[in-house]
Amino acid sequence: MHSTHPPYTPSPVYQELRAILETFDHPPKALVKSFGCQLNFCDGEKYKGVLSDLGYVLTDSPEDADVILFNTCAVREHAQSRVTGQIGSLKSLYERNPSLIIGLCGCMAEEEEVRALIRKSYPFVKMILGAGAMEKLAESLLNVYRADGKRYETTGLDGLPDESLPTVREHHFLASVPVMYGCNNFCTYCIVPYVRGRERSRSPKAIEAEVRSLVEKGYKEILLLGQNVNSYGKDLEEPMNFPELLRRLDAIKGEYWIRFMSSHPKDATPELIEVMLHSEHIEHHLHLPVQSGSNRVLEEMNRRYTIEKYLSLIQDTREKNPDFSFSSDLIVGFPTETAADFEQTLSLIETVRYDNLYTFIYSPRPGTKAAAMPQVSSPEEISQRMQTLLSRQREISEAHNARFIGKSCMVLVEKYDGASGKLNGKTREAMNVEITGADAYSEALVGTMVSVRITAAKNWALVGTLE
Ligand code: SAM
Ligand code: SF4
Ligand code: F3S
Repeated sequence: MHSTHPPYTPSPVYQELRAILETFDHPPKALVKSFGCQLNFCDGEKYKGVLSDLGYVLTDSPEDADVILFNTCAVREHAQSRVTGQIGSLKSLYERNPSLIIGLCGCMAEEEEVRALIRKSYPFVKMILGAGAMEKLAESLLNVYRADGKRYETTGLDGLPDESLPTVREHHFLASVPVMYGCNNFCTYCIVPYVRGRERSRSPKAIEAEVRSLVEKGYKEILLLGQNVNSYGKDLEEPMNFPELLRRLDAIKGEYWIRFMSSHPKDATPELIEVMLHSEHIEHHLHLPVQSGSNRVLEEMNRRYTIEKYLSLIQDTREKNPDFSFSSDLIVGFPTETAADFEQTLSLIETVRYDNLYTFIYSPRPGTKAAAMPQVSSPEEISQRMQTLLSRQREISEAHNARFIGKSCMVLVEKYDGASGKLNGKTREAMNVEITGADAYSEALVGTMVSVRITAAKNWALVGTLE
């Protein structure tokens, strides 16, 4: 793990907390478990940063920990039940060690029903810290220590995290950089706007300084994050659009790539594509979540684009660069989705030929508009649609990936598997590559860019050899 410590002013809260931790008869330890999207993992890196700054040693073992934080996701029912299951399994650990602080953080903590459930059924959870109140971590911990057994709750949806919060990064060559928080779109199925609040953009200066410092430290891939990066900057005092931010970041000298997600199709513009295609560092890949191939369903989802507009952006891009890659999110079983709507989704994936698809069975989220819509399909029909979609996409990926065979690509090496002697990495189009015959190659190549000749294509990766 790699720690970044920008200038950080220790507050009286920090001093008092450190003084409490110094009375421990062992080094204090903390475990942070993140769930959900990359933005949430990014928040988790900040929780870790604050905890290490306070003097906690980070651990993966619940048995060793003095503090366990669940940094949660609320996007689907399954994500929530996983967390409540894991929290429930810590009850006996708490009974053996009542000084253990278990905290519920992140998106679930912003939901009143979840907080009510925690109060009622999980009284051993002593801290609730909402996703929008991240910078109050130290203050919350101090309050729990002071409150001696009472629960402490903080939530909030409006703020931007303090720019000086320290970060402990998971990787030494991949780094996530949030550019904005929140979402204004209220897609009818989605809980995110309710648990993350309205859109707030970080200042371009702060983002540029962070990216520059990461590049100087040798990071090779910078992932810019936001729920809809294409509306970046609209709320700034001096408004700036996302393509302009990308231009500024691309001007930073060095050997690195920039990726970003997510792009809402309603705001993805030809200007964005132009900046990407003419850049030195921006990946030739766009994650463009479509959700459904049916215009009627898209309208009921409140997505505010049509399939025709969506396809025209993809076609224009491919005309300029046939290798450019696209991935997407699709929801199967939206309440009003009929068999005919699903056929349109199948037809869309045939037309687009995505390089990668992330598919989700619709999960009703209480409080959202779609949760009140009657479901027209049976669970069996929905699950059958999902199987059909996945098997069709596997065939499409394999055929479409073949366009890279015989080409020479720069690959950022991400992993070395000693057992198989294989290296894994990604091209500038974000295509996964398995580099074979790597016996003579070593782990030292991880985190570097290498040139690879592509020799074959599978449905989930390209195969190649080092040049
Ligand atoms: N902001 C991104 C966008 O609009 O493209 C998406 C962020 S969301 C966290 C990631 C994906 O989760 C969505 O694109 C959608 O496919 C899926 N999702 C959101 N709500 C869902 C729900 N209630 N049931 C199933 N999937 C859902
Ligand atoms: Fe959810 Fe839609 Fe916002 Fe994405 S754009 S986070 S799907 S409401
Ligand atoms: Fe989940 Fe929150 Fe992300 S609901 S998908 S962790 S913004």
